[in-house]
Amino acid sequence: MSRLNIVVGITGGIAAYKAVGVVRALVLAGHDVHVVPTEGALRFVGRPTLEAISRNPVHTDLYEGVAEVRHVAIGQAADLIVIAPATANSIAKLAAGLADDLLGNTVLASEAPIVIAPAMHTEMWLNQATAANVATLRERGVTIVGPAVGQLTGADSGPGRMEEPDVIVAAALARAAAAAGLPRDDLSGRRVVVTAGGTREPLDPVRFLGNRSSGKQGVAIAEAARARGAQVTLIAANLEVAAPGGCDIRSVSTARELQAAVTEAAAGADLVVMAAAVADYRPAEVSESKIKKQPGDDGLTLELVRNPDILAGLGHAPHEGTLLVGFAAETEPDDERLLALGAAKLEAKGADLLVVNRVGWAEGFARDDNRVVILGRDGVRARADGSKMSVAHGILDVAVQHLREQAAPDPGVAREQPAPSG
Ligand code: C5P
Repeated sequence: MSRLNIVVGITGGIAAYKAVGVVRALVLAGHDVHVVPTEGALRFVGRPTLEAISRNPVHTDLYEGVAEVRHVAIGQAADLIVIAPATANSIAKLAAGLADDLLGNTVLASEAPIVIAPAMHTEMWLNQATAANVATLRERGVTIVGPAVGQLTGADSGPGRMEEPDVIVAAALARAAAAAGLPRDDLSGRRVVVTAGGTREPLDPVRFLGNRSSGKQGVAIAEAARARGAQVTLIAANLEVAAPGGCDIRSVSTARELQAAVTEAAAGADLVVMAAAVADYRPAEVSESKIKKQPGDDGLTLELVRNPDILAGLGHAPHEGTLLVGFAAETEPDDERLLALGAAKLEAKGADLLVVNRVGWAEGFARDDNRVVILGRDGVRARADGSKMSVAHGILDVAVQHLREQAAPDPGVAREQPAPSG
């Protein structure tokens, strides 16, 4: 995505310290970030920190910079406004359209999309006044990210915790891109390998063991990566949908064929996305002729042997410079346990990111929509919900951010601005 002018509003809640992470991620993603904290926010996080991390001066006072009409200029110039954390009070002010500080003026003077990340105690979040204010903002087209459920400032826990900075940033950039109808070219010059579909393990010349994966999600990822400028190799395993144009397509059928194709293609790739459903087992023997019923038999026992775990093979081999994204399709109904399974799988496979989705008789497979959580080594990186194409872009947003973080050095102490003297 091209460089955006982004206003990050910070309001006065404990989670303000995490807003620094939001600012930093947006700056690292190449955007011009202007922080507008409220007076309350500055009691939690210092202006020098915000100036150093955003690399821009930070203003709060409505009566400063009057000659340049700052109270409207910041909002007019913005392509995107992100407010994190958004306290119950600031949500009420936004819903009422109040403009008693620089942030309120900035929001009212702007036509940019607004993304807010609420953070407050559970009781305040569930309060009818807050719920009504949030509903008002949602109706006006404001994107609400979170709040997450988890430990709050004290010993208590519940809904109200601010979403993690990466999740907020991914949602905000996706919103900005969608609003601008922008063709994103953030994968140009990158080599991307995607596996899609489901493997088939032959039993005999006419039968196989397969799965219900249609290949829609993997194909959408390949198409999305292509649209964002990548050179894409699609390893296609028995697709039930048309393969996308503009990609180098390698058709495979069994897990071992997929392994050979992906291992070859992954060498030197920037990003490998393993969306294919790969059979864990294959028949120990493949019959040369069609297996026939035997007179009087009342069943057939098949012996299966393990297939190689291709993703784990790639993950545990040196793969510096190649970001590895796995998928985990799970039938676990409980959200917390689903994420715990995902985190364990990420670790076991040595992947960098894992896209977790729930599957079942009616969920996940062959449908046009999907709902996923994208896990990184440090927890949830983003959630994506919608068409398989929008989920594909959500996954690529996180991957692009990850590739940039790998390339960008940490600013560290040496690059921080000196403390003002006096
Ligand atoms: O272990 P599980 O099948 O849940 O792991 C799913 C992820 O691992 C997917 O990304 C899939 O493409 C990959 N996989 C693999 N080789 C296997 C089984 C799964 O690469 N034998």
